[in-house]
Amino acid sequence: MMNNSGSVLLITMLLIASLIFTACANKPAEPAAPAAGDNTEEGDIVIGGILPMTGAIATFGQSSKKGVDLLVEQVNAKGGVLGRKVVFKVEDNKSTQADSATAAQKLIQQDKVVAIVGAVASSNSLAAAPIAQEAKIPMVSGSSTNPAVTEVGDYIFRAAFIDPFQGAVMANFATKDLKAVKAAIMTDANSDYSIGLGNVFKDVFTANGGTIVSEVSFVSGDTDFNTILTTVKNAKPDVVFVPSYYDTVGLILNQAKNNVGFPAEVKFLGGDGWDSPALFELAGDAANGHYFSNHYSPDVDSPEVKAFIDAYKAKYNEVPDALAALAYDAANMILTSIEKAGTTDAPALRDAIAAVELNAVTGKIKLNEKRDPVKSAVVIVVEDQKQKYFTTVNP
Ligand code: PHE
Repeated sequence: MMNNSGSVLLITMLLIASLIFTACANKPAEPAAPAAGDNTEEGDIVIGGILPMTGAIATFGQSSKKGVDLLVEQVNAKGGVLGRKVVFKVEDNKSTQADSATAAQKLIQQDKVVAIVGAVASSNSLAAAPIAQEAKIPMVSGSSTNPAVTEVGDYIFRAAFIDPFQGAVMANFATKDLKAVKAAIMTDANSDYSIGLGNVFKDVFTANGGTIVSEVSFVSGDTDFNTILTTVKNAKPDVVFVPSYYDTVGLILNQAKNNVGFPAEVKFLGGDGWDSPALFELAGDAANGHYFSNHYSPDVDSPEVKAFIDAYKAKYNEVPDALAALAYDAANMILTSIEKAGTTDAPALRDAIAAVELNAVTGKIKLNEKRDPVKSAVVIVVEDQKQKYFTTVNP
């Protein structure tokens, strides 16, 4: 029979053994261990995706996934990365913060991904990033533009420009191109992206000598904007800045024209969050004549854009939006860096991503010390319910 101190010793030893075991199990396996019930094989390089495949901003997730799937197909057709097949595993964050955090945990702990593409909405990236940072798994958001995202830590990167630039582009566009002196701002109070971008617009527009005549807010999921639109209209702005996503913007534009009777000369302006075919379904012709900033336009001719559009059209029979292009670029940052580092090992991969230089679809990607690229924006005008390239603004 074991005495008391003997059993304490045994329990302690078991505890230590299980701690060591857990520590090993948490380390990203290389090569990745195949999970049951999917097409992953021993030795594959597994990349995770945290994307809104369903919910309020589902077109963002669907386009992003198509972009990454295309890249992975192209890369595997050329023999993979480090001679290994690449597998892309997507977790649907349902357009929410809570599911973004869960998705990060699952991808890291269960699927043993070596890096993550995502999320799209800045608030969702902010929910996932601390988990990736803590686990030291590089996370590259294609499209999150709020500065705070990459501030989470040295394992967090992005392929997109940031909102201080994007907001200035649209404020300067309002002042210089549209000669606006009075602006209204409508923001989503639950979105870090919307609040941040609205603030930048306000600062730059007032620094340009303009006045903000009305500021109102709403939240994603709202469907009736008539009251706040009436408030805004009564303030008689020259332009109305709506830094929000297509699900709300589509309805806002529709109700502004058809219910509240905004005069056609009042221009609505927005940011990249307007980029969705669903915007035109929700707004109909009420979107025509308004402007927003974006990361890329299929109308711009560059060898990278052309090759991407040709391949995307061949695979999906549609023209890619900016989300598809940005996710393609983000995944490319990861895969190029794995090849360059010669390993999927976290610290080496992190360093390689930080040093990446890529002639990407959405422009040249070279990260500054904050892990943000410095890139051009395009201004898009809506014509005949379609996006049309208007101009390019360099940083
Ligand atoms: N920039 C947005 C955000 O940070 C996401 C987005 C990017 C949406 C590009 C559409 C197009 O929340």
